[in-house]
Amino acid sequence: MGGILVIGSYNRDTVLRLARFPAPGETLTALGMAQFHGGKGSNQAVAAARAGGRVALIAALGQDEAGEAAQALWAAEGIAAQAVQITGAPTGAATILLDAAGENQIIIIPGANAELNLPIGFPPPDDIAVVLGQLETPQAATAALFRALPKARCMLNVAPAAPILPELLAATDMLVLNETEAAILAQREAAPADLALALAAETMREVIVTAGALGAFWARPDGVVIDAAPPRVAITDTTGAGDAFLGAFAAFSAEGLAPERLLRQAVTAGALACTEAGAVPSLPYRAAILALAK
Ligand code: RIB
Repeated sequence: MGGILVIGSYNRDTVLRLARFPAPGETLTALGMAQFHGGKGSNQAVAAARAGGRVALIAALGQDEAGEAAQALWAAEGIAAQAVQITGAPTGAATILLDAAGENQIIIIPGANAELNLPIGFPPPDDIAVVLGQLETPQAATAALFRALPKARCMLNVAPAAPILPELLAATDMLVLNETEAAILAQREAAPADLALALAAETMREVIVTAGALGAFWARPDGVVIDAAPPRVAITDTTGAGDAFLGAFAAFSAEGLAPERLLRQAVTAGALACTEAGAVPSLPYRAAILALAK
């Protein structure tokens, strides 16, 4: 089984639990506050490792307590922290507003993540089957890594939604994004399957659009769509659900699972990640995913 290489962000998440989101100009009192490990790159690496993948991570941290905590997390999760860069900027941070329905709004403060680069001459590890990138770290570094691994399946999580550099899109095999991000990229509202089809036709790449309780829709440029519905779960916090989906998708993809089974197991991982508070505490382990996805 080939390995998984993730390039991406680490953030210290501060979660503010609210009865509802504030209106513009309104002041609200939080019901509670908690801090968790976060950042889409780190979350996806942890999710892939817990799903059974052999995972390495390229990331940038500050010289501070949050950076040390990140390295301790990766060691505990069995992730090979590959080419971790310690920068003069503080470790990335995120403020997450969480409403009573478990929906979130996220603001990131990039810090060290914005300084991530791929060292010239960086030798990619051997035997990589899947490479995962997101848009919380510089696109040029992700493009350089994708180009350095032409035999691997290069998946780009288009989050936060932003225009994709042509050089990055050219090196990408698959785009993965949620329905909000897909509507921003497509510049229109539509059903998730239609957004996936439209973006696949426009980019000539495979596209997966995730849509919460509706599941995920995987379109190919030739117009074929596969979809999978998630199991029903009690929602506590949706933060990290997309990262759980991607990490599990990468891990099971590296095992060579058939598309329908692969998508079903990935949406199950996403659903399980909604059942607990915080991004990393809720990322599910392989046994729980397989038991629920039967
Ligand atoms: O996808 C969830 C993550 O987005 C959070 O952990 C936060 O840090 C932001 O990166």
